[in-house]
Amino acid sequence: MEVWQTVLCALLACVAGGLYLAGAFRRRKANEPPLDKGLIPWLGHGLHFRNNGISFFQTMQQKHGDIFTALIAGYYFTFLMDPLSFGAVVKEARAKLDFIEFAEELVLKVFGFQPTADTHKIIETSSTKHLKGNGLVVMTQAMLESIHKVMHDHLHSAQESKGWKEEGLFHFSYNSVFRAGYFALYGNESSSAENDQGKATKSDLDSSEAIFKEFRKYDKLFPRLSYSMLSFAEKREVESLKKYFWDILSIENVYRKDNISLWITDQQQQLAESGVPEHMRNRFMFLLLWAAQGNTGPASFWLLAYLMKYPDAMAAVKEEVDRVVRESGQEIKPGGQEPLNVTKEMLSKTPVMDSAVEETLRLAAAPLLIRAVVDDLVLKMHDGREYVLRKGDRLGIFPYLSAHMDPEIHPEPHIFKYDRFLSQNGTKKEFYKNGEKVKYYTMPWGAGTSICPGRFFAVNEIKLFAFVMLTYFDLELVNKDEEIPPINKDRYGFGVMQPMHDIQFRYRLLPTET
Ligand code: HEM
Ligand SMILES: *[C@@H]1O[C@H](CO)[C@@H](O)[C@H](O)[C@H]1NC(C)=O
Ligand SMILES: *[C@@H]1O[C@H](CO)[C@@H](O)[C@H](O)[C@H]1NC(C)=O
Ligand SMILES: *[C@@H]1O[C@H](CO)[C@@H](O)[C@H](O)[C@H]1NC(C)=O
Ligand SMILES: *[C@@H]1O[C@H](CO)[C@@H](O)[C@H](O)[C@H]1NC(C)=O
Repeated sequence: MEVWQTVLCALLACVAGGLYLAGAFRRRKANEPPLDKGLIPWLGHGLHFRNNGISFFQTMQQKHGDIFTALIAGYYFTFLMDPLSFGAVVKEARAKLDFIEFAEELVLKVFGFQPTADTHKIIETSSTKHLKGNGLVVMTQAMLESIHKVMHDHLHSAQESKGWKEEGLFHFSYNSVFRAGYFALYGNESSSAENDQGKATKSDLDSSEAIFKEFRKYDKLFPRLSYSMLSFAEKREVESLKKYFWDILSIENVYRKDNISLWITDQQQQLAESGVPEHMRNRFMFLLLWAAQGNTGPASFWLLAYLMKYPDAMAAVKEEVDRVVRESGQEIKPGGQEPLNVTKEMLSKTPVMDSAVEETLRLAAAPLLIRAVVDDLVLKMHDGREYVLRKGDRLGIFPYLSAHMDPEIHPEPHIFKYDRFLSQNGTKKEFYKNGEKVKYYTMPWGAGTSICPGRFFAVNEIKLFAFVMLTYFDLELVNKDEEIPPINKDRYGFGVMQPMHDIQFRYRLLPTET
């Protein structure tokens, strides 16, 4: 009898302990945000969150208001939905709200890279040096030349055929921008002898095509990889893709090339100096490829898609591009020998295109900002309410829903308005909610300590691609009535969104001016 009682007690203790660990006994304390654990122990709202993030946020916001804590797969996440209060999170000290802990876990899982204490700092310092100021000018020039390299064949075949050429716009944009960015960052095949030049270029174009294909496989698996939701076969595929990239992008292979960007070599050197072993630095190469190359291609797609869909936007952007090119004194002959030069000065004279790019990112960029609550803290909302956040929890902001799509901040938020961000008379456009000025009216790059260090280069990449496409080609949708494809909901939280399906467009060389 007694033995059974002991066993039973032990069992009950185990179950209670398990439930305790799963957070089943957690209660909302005074001054804490509303707590919602859902019905399933441990998992909580995990399924709803992952399957339909937008619906999860909307349901919870309706139920609890603009701040709430939800259990998601073992973690308590406090979500802040009030854009006027974002500043409190962005500016909070790293000692209380830290993004590195969460980022490290993710980076280890998806890239097999184990960050050290210095990694973030190294990314920051070399990005400041090489993706801003004079460094940015060098990188932008390399990107432009690489775009010409990738576009050469398209130009050539358009010249031969003299008529329209048809392609999938998503594939075309992602492929071109990815490959050009890959050359600009990781260099090109070295050609010691003059007559090797053509061969080296051909080899670059072929290998980058293969790399893009593998990158897309990984890209498609990425969201479910980060949620640890892959099937057995998919896990094996991910493992072999990782090995492929660690090898292709290994220090040994990349350092055989010419014209590797200083952004890459500088980070590699600093990592080496801080004692990171070579096999880890190979993995870091893949992490950088992912961070740098996964968003600009899709963003370029959305920009061109919206311009083709909205003729007034296309006309305004094209008028600006033509004027800036003309004022630079260049005369562009289709298929001519001198490729279009787009200088820093030219890129600084494009307010209309800048607004169109910002509008594109408002509609297409949906990152999820996550911070770890390192120490108990009081979050002060804009309206004066104060909430206690518990150490060990996480804090999340999803600006796509809270700011980008808020009809009060951005009227008719689902419509592409190319001039939404265009300042009318030299003053920066302002945005309001409840009569109050909103500082964080879009956040495609994140904010605060974790803000994207490549954002200036990213915008230049997108703009250069648009400059080249609009200067050389007439562009149109094959089916003018076709709607812009919907966003693939699986990717909410992961930067720039991708469309559910591709759309066909066609391009032809603009007639030579006489
Ligand atoms: C449209 C294009 C891009 C978008 C929307 C974008 C957005 C973002 C976002 C949201 C983050 C994370 C912020 C956070 O965790 O709070 C990030 C991080 C990062 N991005 Fe970008 N990005 C883009 C292009 C680029 C490019 C072109 C580069 C480099 C050449 C780059 C390099 C990085 C790096 C290295 C990080 C990690 C930063 C760290 O560890 O501190 N990104 N990006
Ligand atoms: C190689 O890269 C440099 C700098 O990125 C660029 O200027 C040059 O045109 C490229 N050369 C070839 C042959 O691809
Ligand atoms: C690219 O590398 C080659 C070989 O080292 C060099 O001759 C050339 O000047 C470089 N081009 C640029 C734009 O850096
Ligand atoms: C483009 O313009 C810049 C700035 O004027 C100049 O330094 C560069 O040599 C030009 N490049 C080409 C390919 O003409
Ligand atoms: C700029 O335009 C806005 C709105 O049209 C107007 O309210 C503002 O006074 C103007 N500012 C200047 C300096 O003209």
